[in-house]
Amino acid sequence: MSMKISVIGTGYLGATHAACMAELGFEVIGVDVDPAKIEALSEGKLPFHEPGLGELLRKHVASGRLRFTTDYEEVASWADVHFIGVGTPQRADGHGADMRFVDASVAELATRIRGTALIVGKSTVPVGTARRLRGLIAANAHTDAQISLAWNPEFLREGFAVADTMSPDRLVLGVEDATSEAILRRVYAQALEADTPLIVTDFETAELVKVAANAFLATKISFINSFAEVTETIGGDITVLADALGHDARIGRKFLNAGVGFGGGCLPKDIRALQARTSELGLTHTMGFLAEVDEINLRRRERVVRLAQTMLNDKLVGARIAVLGVTFKPDSDDVRDSPALDIAVRLFNAGADVLVYDPKGNKNAAERFPRLQYADDLPEAVKDADLVLLLTEWAEFKALVPADLEELVATKRIIDGRNVLDRAPWRDAGWEIVRMGQHY
Ligand code: UGA
Repeated sequence: MSMKISVIGTGYLGATHAACMAELGFEVIGVDVDPAKIEALSEGKLPFHEPGLGELLRKHVASGRLRFTTDYEEVASWADVHFIGVGTPQRADGHGADMRFVDASVAELATRIRGTALIVGKSTVPVGTARRLRGLIAANAHTDAQISLAWNPEFLREGFAVADTMSPDRLVLGVEDATSEAILRRVYAQALEADTPLIVTDFETAELVKVAANAFLATKISFINSFAEVTETIGGDITVLADALGHDARIGRKFLNAGVGFGGGCLPKDIRALQARTSELGLTHTMGFLAEVDEINLRRRERVVRLAQTMLNDKLVGARIAVLGVTFKPDSDDVRDSPALDIAVRLFNAGADVLVYDPKGNKNAAERFPRLQYADDLPEAVKDADLVLLLTEWAEFKALVPADLEELVATKRIIDGRNVLDRAPWRDAGWEIVRMGQHY
């Protein structure tokens, strides 16, 4: 019997999962409460930038294996497996994750399902959620329904979402019964045949693996950025330090790039939600180090603003500053909690004349901060600049050489917020170039 799959929520996670499930040969419906999103996806239009995903979406909308709807009724009676991929944003009061979308989607399904079905949580949630949802399902389920629940966290990175979903580093399944495990083994048969490590465990462990991974990655970045603060004060080369550390296989070189710090829709909110959840559990000090991780991270933004001020001889007001990059990382149009955008806004608020250019992020940034000015291309952004800031390491910016800019800028000054430019050629060409972690 072929399996029918629904994916609830069509953001980065859900849209990617739905398209990849169709690529694996399943019949898939993507569900969202936003009719505009559903209409766009149904026409093969991806509402955000993710390399390779648009092609996959169009391929399977055309093949008929992938369709989209806002109608829970249709989905509940059609699919055998329902993946929950809705958002768990930071709550408006800043304390913990907002579980409204997860709870609503599970309740919507539970009331409508008849017969046997499996609900699989993929969203990043506070530990204890799956067990709580079990109760919610029991309270809402029809007497004719047998609904199982599993937790299957997602580890995809933006910019690599398709590759990470098709060939994951590992698969984690939190299950309560052998049937759910067997169904998920069938869903992931291709990855399992390719020897992807499989961890079958309980709900709590599955939920925790996800937040622990993001907390570890955030800590690694803040760890190296804390050393950047030291080298900024006393001297030393943060990149050489990271390279030397990285040769120790127990440490590894990845996620040791000092810079303007981490952002995005995941790492910052996940470390805050983990602290909130552990405090709720009475463990007020246990995740205290994550408050430091957060603070070190936010201090990077201040560092760039102060550096800009110093390099401009304390004359921020009226200074023309070109900001290259506003997304939280390259190959994405996502500006959620973006260090680059935050720095641009801080400089603007301090009175600087800021002109921003990002290959994909201008539109989303302009929606959030319409008062900033946006340039259509790099030359327009850097024209007459007193200072250039490179804040997101797009390939286009990494490849910059002094000759690309020097006819355009007013003064040859650049801050490399991602440590991607080689200092020597810039210095030789008469530029004042300052990198992160550099004593200045
Ligand atoms: C992150 C995790 O890497 C994924 O495994 C996880 O699935 C995802 O969150 C999620 O929870 O959904 P993502 O937010 O796409 O993925 O971005 P990352 O590649 O982790 O980068 C996060 C931030 O850290 C970026 O702002 C990046 O510029 C910054 N970063 C990364 C550094 O400042 N230094 C580094 O060495 C590495």
